[in-house]
Amino acid sequence: MPTEKIQALILAAGKSSRFNTAASKLTFTLCGQEMIAYPVQTLCQLAIPVTVILGYQKEQIRSILEKYTFNNVHYSEQIEQRGTGHAVLSTQKAWHADNILVLNGDMPLINKEIIQELIDTHEQSHATITFVTAHNPDTALGGYGRVIKENGTVAIVEARDFTQDPAEHCCINAGIYLIKRSFLEQELPNLEINRASGELYITDLIKRASDKKQKIETVNAPFDLVRGVNTLKELWVAEQIKKAEIIHYWMDKGVRFMAAQNVAIDQQVALESDTVIGAGVQLRGTTRIASGCTIDAFSIITNSLIGARSTVLSHSVITNSILEEQVQVGPFAHIHRSSTLKDNSVIGNFVEVSKSIVGAKTKAKHLAYVGQSVIGESVTVGAGTVTCNYNSVSKNTTHVEDNVFIGSNTTLIAPVTLGKDCFIAAGSTITHSVPSEALAIARSRQENKPDYAVKLKERYKKQENS
Ligand code: UD1
Ligand code: MG
Repeated sequence: MPTEKIQALILAAGKSSRFNTAASKLTFTLCGQEMIAYPVQTLCQLAIPVTVILGYQKEQIRSILEKYTFNNVHYSEQIEQRGTGHAVLSTQKAWHADNILVLNGDMPLINKEIIQELIDTHEQSHATITFVTAHNPDTALGGYGRVIKENGTVAIVEARDFTQDPAEHCCINAGIYLIKRSFLEQELPNLEINRASGELYITDLIKRASDKKQKIETVNAPFDLVRGVNTLKELWVAEQIKKAEIIHYWMDKGVRFMAAQNVAIDQQVALESDTVIGAGVQLRGTTRIASGCTIDAFSIITNSLIGARSTVLSHSVITNSILEEQVQVGPFAHIHRSSTLKDNSVIGNFVEVSKSIVGAKTKAKHLAYVGQSVIGESVTVGAGTVTCNYNSVSKNTTHVEDNVFIGSNTTLIAPVTLGKDCFIAAGSTITHSVPSEALAIARSRQENKPDYAVKLKERYKKQENS
């Protein structure tokens, strides 16, 4: 069916009362992507125009969707939340396609194959309504409408009205319907309010269509992919499924996971083959990791690019930064605020790099703070080096040119420039720029007093005993 013949409505106006949170459930994330973004993304992949029906927390949901570059997404408002049927009815003026695809907003695991199968079945069967079902034999399963097919009729009975034996009716309604617009126009305004809840249910359309001898088709989907998320517990379950789906995908692409069960990889992350991901690693946002990298246990990488054959040792945190190729970071390193570590550089344990460029083959292996600095190639940053870039009012830059040697426990008080090939003696406090090839020593001169240690100890003993 050409997609111009279909328009989609996503139901996103509900109050999320079973979440018991102030925020709408649709704003919660699974694997770094908000729940509402999943069905919208799926429909955009199929080039189906979407109208998102907003109500509760409409601004928040809209601003989330506007962050993404979705095409052909429109918005309408259901001013009062009076049920799923009422939500669809509230959009009547916007209906233009011959078939209206209605989707619940709270089904983040949905994929485009299920929607495509629904469209194909609807088209081939010329049904009035085609909807998605799933089977779950758990008799304690609540929260879903059950699909009852009896004596040639079909109906969906909502959980609170269901009185039959669940073991005999394990077919549930997924919450995805493709409906002929002409039928919707005719029947939706006549839906009756459910007495128990005071709401209009879209699901009541099925019985109406059945009573009017309209053709109804169903498409069966795996239950896990159409799970609805009504509680925080269900969100947790859905996120576990999504996590596994993402990890399986990258395993198939040649990424090795040492302990896949406790790794978290966001939806938009991209990995390349021959990379190894350790236990407890979290890869967030738009992070990209090239081939042949090792990301060791408990490192957290957010919105960063990691170049080929780089190694991030355990417990490192990298945010909004770039590691070029064959860079080594960690253990316990912190790289952030748009820093770039160039090819073959090494940032070791307890080193923080903030808003800085670290040149190729440069090493800062132990206990250092490199902030707002531009460091050239093949520089040695000794243990305990600190760039002092903040004077309580403004921030200043440190420039270190190629091949500089910075001895341990040096403080560089910015703004300052260390010229090419210069040497900073350990323990220096550098307040002025150092010319190229110069030696800078900025510490008090050492004095040795022969035999004085023995005399000093004797004096202290006397003082102690007096
Ligand atoms: C719904 C179905 C149920 C199905 C289940 C699948 C109805 C009456 N029941 O139940 O048969 O098995 O989904 O997960 O449709 N919404 C609005 N406006 C409203 C009310 C809800 O836009 O006035 C939106 C919600 O934000 C949500 C969606 O509609 O995204 C579904 O509502 P929800 O309350 O989650 O319905 P369920 O009880 O899960
Ligand atoms: Mg629901």
